[in-house]
Amino acid sequence: MLWVKAFHIVAVVCWFAALFYLPRLFVYHADAKDVESIERFKVMERKLYRGIMTPSAIATVVLGAWLVSYGTDYYFSSGWFHAKMLLVVMLLGYHHACGRLLKKFANDENTRSHVFYRWFNEFPVLVLIGVCILVVVRPF
Ligand code: HEM
Repeated sequence: MLWVKAFHIVAVVCWFAALFYLPRLFVYHADAKDVESIERFKVMERKLYRGIMTPSAIATVVLGAWLVSYGTDYYFSSGWFHAKMLLVVMLLGYHHACGRLLKKFANDENTRSHVFYRWFNEFPVLVLIGVCILVVVRPF
């Protein structure tokens, strides 16, 4: 179980690195004017999303489900775990939203400003704080 947990945490760290960086790229991309920068952002965004963000999201969920299999009754009857799963579902929704925004940028159809993406960028921070408190403190 400890080995699985170690790699679950590795996958979580990789997922969050991408969840923090991709919307940051959107901030700069939304503000970019020259074609060369815009085309470079498109490549960076696509590679980050496909090469790191989605694979590490899958690894996080698969390894998390593996951890659950060690104590199904305990986790399914724990309030903190239900709350964690709610936050994870919201994070997967955010991940999906990033994928849709990436497609818009790829087609030069973005209509939102860099200020919007600055705020959009804050959501995973809140989820990270919430999940860490839930899994470590287990307040309920
Ligand atoms: C479907 C997704 C996920 C599932 C099923 C899942 C499940 C689990 C389980 C069963 C454990 C072991 C808890 C224990 O020690 O008894 C665990 C540990 C942990 N999870 Fe997840 N997890 C998921 C996603 C996440 C996400 C998105 C994060 C971060 C935001 C996260 C952060 C952690 C951390 C930090 C630990 C270590 C807790 C500790 O040992 O103190 N997990 N996870």
